[in-house]
Amino acid sequence: MVEAMGLWELYQQAARELSARMPEREASFEAFCLLEKLFGWNKNQVLLHKDQEVSPEQAENLAALLEKRKSGYPLQYLLGSWDFWGYDFQVGEGVLIPRADTETLCEAVLTAAKDFPAPVICDLCSGSGCLPVVYAKELPQARRIYAVELSEAALPYLRANVERHGCENVRIVPEDALRWTPPEPLHIISANPPYLSADEMAQLQKEVSFEPKMALEAPENGLYFYRILSRRCYDWLAEGGFLAFEVGYRQAAAVAELMKKAAYTDIRIIADLCGVERVVSGRKKAAASLSPATV
Ligand SMILES: C[S@@+](CC[C@H](N)C(=O)[O-])C[C@H]1O[C@@H](n2cnc3c(N)ncnc32)[C@H](O)[C@@H]1O
Repeated sequence: MVEAMGLWELYQQAARELSARMPEREASFEAFCLLEKLFGWNKNQVLLHKDQEVSPEQAENLAALLEKRKSGYPLQYLLGSWDFWGYDFQVGEGVLIPRADTETLCEAVLTAAKDFPAPVICDLCSGSGCLPVVYAKELPQARRIYAVELSEAALPYLRANVERHGCENVRIVPEDALRWTPPEPLHIISANPPYLSADEMAQLQKEVSFEPKMALEAPENGLYFYRILSRRCYDWLAEGGFLAFEVGYRQAAAVAELMKKAAYTDIRIIADLCGVERVVSGRKKAAASLSPATV
């Protein structure tokens, strides 16, 4: 039985316990997140109500969350939602937690979309739907946005997030991205497929081991999806169409090579904010730039 205490004392205790497994700043951030989950108050509101007494039951609820978190269970799954590109996404066991790294892919797509007046976009391996939802919110001119996801466990999150953000032009496609064929030519394709090798899977941080293996691991040293999709996507693109992949650490050169073999032009490697090569993009040749020999 946990004794009654004040809100501030509860925060301090939570931050202290968490700091055993993470730096103090993170522990403080996470403690505030958990208090917000339980009390519905953000950091400022907690500070305003710091003398408020907390019931033993509330303290016990926090203790249960802390125990799970200290075992390595992801904070985002405990909270049930996470931010991506300023939008809130429902997450939980069975779906990959959207990563800040993936905002590099998102930005590449939003920039490329300026070239098309009413683009038809497809996001493969959509998980929580973070990418197709942001495309729908930021690109109201998009004619349609396909979101392809195979996992039965991830699909309910994808559906819930598309619905809660009111994305009427998103079509959810519950299919294998390696077999599906779009019903119309696409102007833009994005994919953040599983890309970890078996060796990388064996060295995962504890938190990541709670996320679905299907979202993380790929054969062929992590390159399997890129090899197949780079070829298939070329046929799906309209002339001048744009493909962008998120890639894993040290995969950019290999993926660029696969895209070169599949005939893409204007192949670019884009680094994320930490300087890691994170996105590889390319275009299907536009008719106007076809050389006489290939026309
Ligand atoms: C790395 S996660 C990316 C999720 C999301 N796009 C994001 O950035 O957070 C890869 C996703 O691909 C899905 N997936 C794995 N194999 C698939 C396949 N053959 N077809 C469609 N989706 C697949 C997984 O279930 C997972 O949701």
